[in-house]
Amino acid sequence: MATQTLSSVDHALALIRVQYMAGVPARLFHWPVAPVNPRTDTTTTTTATSDADGFVQAQIMATVGWSTQVGTSQRLPAWMLEVAVQRRMVAEIFQHPRCLSLPPSQAHAKSIAKYYYAQVEAARGDTCDELVSLCVELLNLNTSDAEAAAAGGGSDDWCHRTYDLGFPQAISTDPAALISMKESRNIISKGTTGLAGWPAAHYLAEWLLQHPSAVSGKKVMELGSGTGLVGIVAGTLRPKILIASDYDTHVLSCLRHNLDLNGVLAKGAELPARANATPALVEDLDWFRVTERSLQAFGAELVLAADVVYDPDLLDPLCKVLSGLLKVPSYRRIVPKAAPTAASGTTALAGDGSVQAPLPPVLTAGRPVALVASTIRNPDIIEQFKTTLKTHALEFTTLAELPPLRLFYDRSLPVLLLAITASSAAPAAAAAAAAAPTVAATST
Ligand SMILES: C[S@@+](CC[C@H](N)C(=O)[O-])C[C@H]1O[C@@H](n2cnc3c(N)ncnc32)[C@H](O)[C@@H]1O
Repeated sequence: MATQTLSSVDHALALIRVQYMAGVPARLFHWPVAPVNPRTDTTTTTTATSDADGFVQAQIMATVGWSTQVGTSQRLPAWMLEVAVQRRMVAEIFQHPRCLSLPPSQAHAKSIAKYYYAQVEAARGDTCDELVSLCVELLNLNTSDAEAAAAGGGSDDWCHRTYDLGFPQAISTDPAALISMKESRNIISKGTTGLAGWPAAHYLAEWLLQHPSAVSGKKVMELGSGTGLVGIVAGTLRPKILIASDYDTHVLSCLRHNLDLNGVLAKGAELPARANATPALVEDLDWFRVTERSLQAFGAELVLAADVVYDPDLLDPLCKVLSGLLKVPSYRRIVPKAAPTAASGTTALAGDGSVQAPLPPVLTAGRPVALVASTIRNPDIIEQFKTTLKTHALEFTTLAELPPLRLFYDRSLPVLLLAITASSAAPAAAAAAAAAPTVAATST
């Protein structure tokens, strides 16, 4: 376990902040309970509890080096409730500049603040004015989306989740290490699944952060990008060209918004570009309509897709698209590049150059590869996907499970990560035979 040499209270508050910003629900929230004395601000190293809930990563807790309790059923230790710590809770968490500009859902803010306030009250100690004002303010906010809509106010359908890629190495927030996502609180809204963030996107984003050389210098295409987390993370890892794509109008608009918000939108950006990142083009790419010719014209070296394996009707068009992207004619075969070293700076955003893991052989063989991450909700559809891949002369390997280090997300269901390539036995003509549709993708 890593030894921490940071201030105990700073560390405890950072642990609360990253969970709060990422939207970890109150029932799964890890509260630091290490027996420290904030007045003396001592340095501590303690043993982390195991990850019992499948949401917050045991690895993160182990790196942080704190004992934690999960949920809202227990009492917080007295030092967490002191007036000085209350003030810091308000200023550094609930009113953190990022939470003020890109707020998490009101319901989330209320539930975490309410729990903390109840703990302070139960301890019968002093309550600071800032905490009281915050709670009054939160309780006065709309109590339901319907009421808000009736009052003409903003409803709480949309929220932001913010991920701190500097944590746990960096305890104070570096705005350059934050990624914020605007997303719907409902898994289906406006008739699409693409406005919410899905666990496989977090998994794939995490995988890329730990394998930056899979992306750097490559021509990367993402399919079914949704709100855009994978594309944003890929953009920070310096691909040569990056295309994020989807087909639904609302999703494309949300995707552009999030890419812009994080400084990785290539065309029509209103906000400043992120330093050392590759901005993404956004394409309207419908798997049913895109032509193989336009797919091949891009010459993708890496294809990314998360949580796109859920509807049996989509499997065939999706595999056709993968086939069109992966079956590169021999004259355009990719020359394998030497993987950059950690010292090359590709993990700078993650705040930890040592995170770079070696690439699996399939990613160093000089062939285009698709990384498709799928949450396993229905094992049958995963099997169907594998069968459909084979009928399109695509082969796959399952990549080893990943120890999560950066992102807080729902890990209650397993995620399968497949590395897919054109079958080495497949004749080039098979690719042409597989293509039928007629409309080209449009870059916007
Ligand atoms: C479950 S969401 C996953 C979104 C995102 N990748 C994530 O993991 O957060 C599935 C995505 O696939 C997209 N999609 C579905 N059918 C599609 C099609 N025919 N062409 C392109 N994208 C499609 C949806 O619009 C949606 O964004």
